[in-house]
Amino acid sequence: MKSLVSIHDFSKSEILKIMELAAHYEANPYENILDGHVVATLFFEPSTRTRLSFESAINRLGGRVIGFSDTNATSVSKGETLHDTISVISNYCDMIIMRHNIEGAARYASEVSTKPIVNAGDGANQHPSQTLLDLYSIMKTQGTLDNINIMMVGDLKYGRTVHSLLQALAHFKAKFTFVSPEELQMPTEYKKFLYEQGIEFHETTDIMEHMPQADIIYMTRVQRERFSDTMEYERVKNSYILRNSMLDNTKENMRILHPLPRVNEINSDVDKNPKAYYFQQTENGVYTRMAKLSPYV
Ligand code: CP
Repeated sequence: MKSLVSIHDFSKSEILKIMELAAHYEANPYENILDGHVVATLFFEPSTRTRLSFESAINRLGGRVIGFSDTNATSVSKGETLHDTISVISNYCDMIIMRHNIEGAARYASEVSTKPIVNAGDGANQHPSQTLLDLYSIMKTQGTLDNINIMMVGDLKYGRTVHSLLQALAHFKAKFTFVSPEELQMPTEYKKFLYEQGIEFHETTDIMEHMPQADIIYMTRVQRERFSDTMEYERVKNSYILRNSMLDNTKENMRILHPLPRVNEINSDVDKNPKAYYFQQTENGVYTRMAKLSPYV
């Protein structure tokens, strides 16, 4: 099995292979290919979907799970370093799935560990397994990954899911609209990456401007935990609230994605709209994570 630290670790053909395998696991959600294998899930930061969908995927594949979801119950609370924690736990398992608040922590862990590392989110940097489920959701709803017109809305500065999704969609010549307050714009390095790839993008503060052209509206939460200044968070936290009445002039096949959790950036009156896909999106996480854990990629 191969590490997945950044979405760049997978080529376009490997990503497409994962899409194919995810469809296989959606049709066949139990397969005993991890029998006798132990996977560690180490969550230094809170999670509901990523940890539990990975653990569901491991169980469906016949593997065993060890790990923690709260460092207070581990020797990290006594001051043990990431280096020592990873060195020890890599002796206990065949793969490590890890979430950490520090950008680059998963890369560092991959240099220390004797076993493959899957990055389940490192600070504001990357969330590549979320990207796999986002791509699968786009493929299922749009019938293709090619030439998708996608609006990314909200916290594009600290939102790690949009960073890795942008890099993956560059393989498929997506057209991007970035909607955010000025303080939370997409970081320059990602815009430079798109520019170098010759990929079109627009930046705006107006959520309605490009909505009629969008195939996908990808909403994000303002990441309170990344702000050092609480007042700044308070100022921007309600910058965008998507409401049902705003969706009248959208494409019939447009779908709304969100990595979740949401706070209030999607009003609950959107939930019953057939264009809301964010709860089905979470189910796709199980199949794409089964695909990642399988030895076929
Ligand atoms: N999408 C996502 O990463 O959700 P969790 O934080 O609940 O894992």
